[in-house]
Amino acid sequence: MASDEQILTALKGVNYPGYSRDIVSFGLVKSVAFNNGAVSVELELTTASREVAQSLKAEVEAAVKAIAGVNIASVQIKQPAAPAAGAAAAGPFQNQQKAPGIKRIVAIASGKGGVGKSTCSVNLACALQFLGARVGLLDCDIYGPSIPLMMGIKQRPNVSEQDKLVPPNAHGVKLMSMGFLLEDDQPVIWRGPMIMKTVQQFIQQVDWGELDYLLVDLPPGTGDAQLSLCQTVPLDGGVIVTTPQEASLGVVRKGIGMFEKVNVPILGIVENMSYFTAPNGDRVEIFGHGGGRQEAERQKTAFLGEVPLFMEIREGGDSGEPVVVRAPSDPPGQAFIKIAEQLRKILG
Ligand SMILES: Nc1ncnc2c1ncn2[C@@H]1O[C@H](COP(=O)(O)OP(=O)(O)O)[C@@H](O)[C@H]1O
Ligand SMILES: [Mg+2]
Repeated sequence: MASDEQILTALKGVNYPGYSRDIVSFGLVKSVAFNNGAVSVELELTTASREVAQSLKAEVEAAVKAIAGVNIASVQIKQPAAPAAGAAAAGPFQNQQKAPGIKRIVAIASGKGGVGKSTCSVNLACALQFLGARVGLLDCDIYGPSIPLMMGIKQRPNVSEQDKLVPPNAHGVKLMSMGFLLEDDQPVIWRGPMIMKTVQQFIQQVDWGELDYLLVDLPPGTGDAQLSLCQTVPLDGGVIVTTPQEASLGVVRKGIGMFEKVNVPILGIVENMSYFTAPNGDRVEIFGHGGGRQEAERQKTAFLGEVPLFMEIREGGDSGEPVVVRAPSDPPGQAFIKIAEQLRKILG
């Protein structure tokens, strides 16, 4: 008798063709069932490619039949209809056609404010740029759009001849923010539909040009507002930023749950404010340490890396010159660059 758990473990051994990640963590397995020596598996792909489907079918059958007590394996695969000629080949990620020119859209989420989500978004964007990628950064935090300040941008976007918004460029990263649409010190009163509409325009009516990555700084939290934003933006993956303390409180699980609800693959967890090195060299673990890594293991998702508390990180944010830009070879900058390398690997 094979348990669902055993079947899923076997399926975790099957990677998506061309990626180093398995089909379970990509969220492609819709159901598994066992009955009298026969296992049936249902996959739902976002690509219409027949080669991908055939290769996955064969691999899944082999993986499942290797379980003791399984004689028959049947694999059902749901796929969208074949795309029109000339459409880009789709990976395991969804909705790429909605944002022409943008290869990967990645959301950065957190359980609550103040854990360093925007700091990580800004520095990861600059780190990916440092590594040679073309990067955009979209600040969707309606409660506190802090990214223009952190990137040192005051001017508002221009409008092109094609009536598109032209994102200002800071440190080589193209930037769009809810903050550009607000007067200084104006209280933020956004109604749900207004937010959705604005965010849709940010994707479709902004002249992003060609981008390898568009990072999206979500509002803090994992409630309905964040969930609808995740549905509005055609996301290819989500990253969760946490402090060690927050991770141990199960907050990360809520973030993962949010992405799963909208079928967005979870790329991994970043632990921010991991520890602090005192002037005498002692390592001080203010919020505990390792919670992010432990939670990532528990949730079977990638641990992307840790960022210690550094005065330079806060100063970089306040001065509009992120630490990755000011001093890429120093430890604070290196922490972000290592995480960006991980991300790049996972995104293929
Ligand atoms: N690793 C860190 N070291 C030092 N200061 C940090 C670090 N991460 C964030 N901060 C500071 O903490 C504050 C909150 O960070 P922020 O990125 O605005 O959080 P969030 O977007 O989650 O609300 C900012 O002043 C920021 O400069
Ligand atoms: Mg923020």
